[in-house]
Amino acid sequence: MRVIIEKDYKAMSKKAALLVASQVRLKPDSVLGLATGSTPLGMYDELIEMYNKDEIDFSEAKTFNLDEYCNLSPENPQSYHYYMNDNFFSYINIPEKNINILDGMTDDVKRECIEYDMKIKRAGGIDLQVLGIGPNGHIGFNEPGERLNVKTHQVDLAEETIEANSRFFDSKEEVPKKAITVGIATILKARRILLLASGKNKAHAIKETVSGHVSTQVPSSLLQTHPEVTIIIDEAAAELI
Ligand code: PGA
Repeated sequence: MRVIIEKDYKAMSKKAALLVASQVRLKPDSVLGLATGSTPLGMYDELIEMYNKDEIDFSEAKTFNLDEYCNLSPENPQSYHYYMNDNFFSYINIPEKNINILDGMTDDVKRECIEYDMKIKRAGGIDLQVLGIGPNGHIGFNEPGERLNVKTHQVDLAEETIEANSRFFDSKEEVPKKAITVGIATILKARRILLLASGKNKAHAIKETVSGHVSTQVPSSLLQTHPEVTIIIDEAAAELI
């Protein structure tokens, strides 16, 4: 695990964007695993800026997002479909057919999950997986628990996650209770993993990720078993390491 500590959110975002850009420059048809949430927003902004300066070309890239809420339509501003278009895809030249996001509106969740894993496999697997991290150590929506479901699956969101994500909704009651997420195996099969964290409220999760016991109670700790993980965090998130 390589841990890079940057001064603040802006510097963290810049560094992360440089790493993604170098992946896409070296392999223009890279398969990128992408994350949502507040943390990668700065990185997406930096990538858009690079694209506007002709420094990066996404025309051959493919993307697979980590997760999506159940029962929010793509037009709902809180859905991750909407987020990705609004914050990234609509500003770059990635062909729509190369974008993959789980369908949270499906009436056949099992099939959606199986097909998503198949699509990732058919695309050749993920070259670079970008991850945020929950204060409870979740990655994607793989929440702490006695057992982890390794493949793409539906989850009941943890109370802490509903609480943390309620800031994006008008009220906590509006936060969906279920989501679909890629599993830990899909994440760990990525050739390279980039985990980002910013702020004091992630410091404990980062400490457990970097030096805690590997445990399903802290899903991010499983990243210790992967040979190519880069963690880019700001000073606040690095406070306990
Ligand atoms: P955040 O979410 O980037 O909004 O903090 C990260 C996560 O919950 O995985």
